[in-house]
Amino acid sequence: MIALSPEFEAATKAAADDPEAFWADAAKAIHWEKPWDKVFDDSNAPLYRWFTGAQVNTCYNCLDRQVEAGRGDQDALIYESPITDKTEHFTYSDLLARVAKVAGGMAALGVTKGDRVIIYMPMVPEAIISMLACARIGAVHSVVFGGFAANELATRIDDAEPKLILSASCGIEPGKIVAYKPLLDRAIAMASAKPDHCIILQRPQQLASMIEGRDIDWVGFESEAEPTGCVTVEATDPLYIIYTSGTTGEPKGIVRDNGSHLVALAWSMQNIYGVNPGEVFWAASDVGWVVGHSYICYGPLLHGCTAILFEGKPVGTPDAATYWRIIERHKVTVMFTAPTAIRAIKQQDPDGKLVKDFDLSSFRVLYVAGERGDPDTIAWGEQILGVPIIDHWWQTESGWPINSNCAGLGLYPVKHGSPGKAVPGFDVQVVDEGCNPVGPNETGAIVIKLPLPPGCLPTLWGHDDAYISKYLTDYPGYYKTGDAGFIDEDGYLFVMSRTDDIINVAGHRLSTGAIEEVLSNHVDVAEVAVFGVADALKGQVPLGLAVLKAGVNRDPQLILGELVQSVRDQIGPVAAFKTAGIAQRLPKTRSGKILRGTMQKIADGLAYPIPATIDDVDILFEIEQALQLLGYAGGPGPMPADGDGDAT
Ligand code: COA
Ligand code: AMP
Repeated sequence: MIALSPEFEAATKAAADDPEAFWADAAKAIHWEKPWDKVFDDSNAPLYRWFTGAQVNTCYNCLDRQVEAGRGDQDALIYESPITDKTEHFTYSDLLARVAKVAGGMAALGVTKGDRVIIYMPMVPEAIISMLACARIGAVHSVVFGGFAANELATRIDDAEPKLILSASCGIEPGKIVAYKPLLDRAIAMASAKPDHCIILQRPQQLASMIEGRDIDWVGFESEAEPTGCVTVEATDPLYIIYTSGTTGEPKGIVRDNGSHLVALAWSMQNIYGVNPGEVFWAASDVGWVVGHSYICYGPLLHGCTAILFEGKPVGTPDAATYWRIIERHKVTVMFTAPTAIRAIKQQDPDGKLVKDFDLSSFRVLYVAGERGDPDTIAWGEQILGVPIIDHWWQTESGWPINSNCAGLGLYPVKHGSPGKAVPGFDVQVVDEGCNPVGPNETGAIVIKLPLPPGCLPTLWGHDDAYISKYLTDYPGYYKTGDAGFIDEDGYLFVMSRTDDIINVAGHRLSTGAIEEVLSNHVDVAEVAVFGVADALKGQVPLGLAVLKAGVNRDPQLILGELVQSVRDQIGPVAAFKTAGIAQRLPKTRSGKILRGTMQKIADGLAYPIPATIDDVDILFEIEQALQLLGYAGGPGPMPADGDGDAT
């Protein structure tokens, strides 16, 4: 039996025995304008709510309250942009002043409580200012990641129907400038919902042309604006919508509320990450992802920490020591990144020599998430850094960690490959298809017993029904995470795969179904399959096999180039879709289900069982040949049949 920390055990027990008392106690960390009527409200089950009747303002808790408590001169945000060779410090007072003005400017344009505002920005301080300014006036922001193409942005505009869009002329990626404004213009042209205005931050690296009457220059907008105060909202009012990949091409609008989000994040900063107010916390993610929302922006600020906003990559900006340089420069105590970033550093500095040039004495622990922390990478990182590397598991939907070793409650022994035990408040179980719990080490669907604790999605934007059908129906009484894995005899979770078509590319969540949708629109394509194949840097990358329509006699290489380009144009470069091949036919079950899982195993060079349900085994050999032409499928080949053998 593994000995856990007594604090962790006590918190787990307290949260399970009396969740209302536990979360009411955690809620003392927040300033409420009005206390709640009910800590937990199940009157509209299964749409549960926390802290109903309470009133609050998220921006007040992140900024005004910190200044009032004497943190005005402390850095709230440090903008570290090695890609533009710039470092900028914002104290809590600076950030408050700028946020209050931008909020005032938005209010003057008619944005009021409940209105939606889309933020399509690179990693610049104005992105954080925009989020907090929305929170200040009760507007609901939706940040869209910059690596998405116009079409994806248009889908989000149509779903969120924003009154205003805040954007910038360009983003800066290694070796290139990504013009955001033309993408924004194209997206608005495509969308049916039209914003009244766009506020555009002109970055000196590339100026954007403006559309008169609609577009407003950020600098003039902010300088002319009158600062405004915080608008009180209901704890249950939405703070933001974040779109994430679903099992079809349709993105899902995950809703986050104000009150329970504040409570969960404040609790996690202290108890999971073990960071104290006044210390420096760095999540090297992007504001477009949930990690950026929770742990670049809201979590650190409401806990009185200094947050770092990093515009760069773990390698090449300027080198593989950039993380260590920033940790030393700003005395970072706790950092958060994705395993793919550690792999990128390892590729360039395999012996970890660069670390030795830096004083990392402030650094206590590195948390990783976004994909499974593969044991080799974690062990390498621990060895070169000399601090614990903690894999923790969560999702856009949860908004904060579900399973994690909690530094603030005393770390318990780490098992590589596992994100540890459920965080207090989460009841995580593994079940079979009939929703029966499976035994230790048996693989099944990972589910969470309802109700979910504070901070998790209360619903999907405008689609309560879809929330219920997608997440709460397959396993009655449980939330379906979409992940599969097992819990071992010590209660450690191992997250091994998805049960749907989601793949993780460099810590980014993508739907292969969405890529298939784009590819199948090509005039020459009859049928297509996309699946994730192993990649030494990104964990997985998507690979497509297309069957061409009969009679097509154009150069196949030309067609494949068009397919790759179409995904870049319609989903965006973030999909990292670079490899497509031609297949004569696709392997299917007798009922017509494409055997993507089998093709994935063939591509990855793994032994694959011949699915008992396949009609014609020769197809698998054809696929092996097609994949070999693409540089894949160097494995042992088929094993004897054992059922379907295909997970997707
Ligand atoms: N705006 C515009 N384009 C963007 C973008 C943005 N914000 N972010 C990425 N892109 C583009 C890149 O330029 C690249 O385009 P390319 O195909 O023309 O080269 C493409 O999207 C893929 O980018 P990325 O996933 O960053 O891959 P990369 O090869 O440039 O870098 C890593 C690889 C591993 C260094 C990088 O993925 C990384 O830093 N990952 C860590 C991610 C992370 O921390 N996630 C946190 C989740 S918890
Ligand atoms: P996202 O919503 O983009 O954060 O992606 C969430 C998904 O990423 C999860 O459902 C998992 O499939 C995967 N994931 C995130 N963190 C981990 C982890 N620590 N271990 C294994 N998978 C992870």
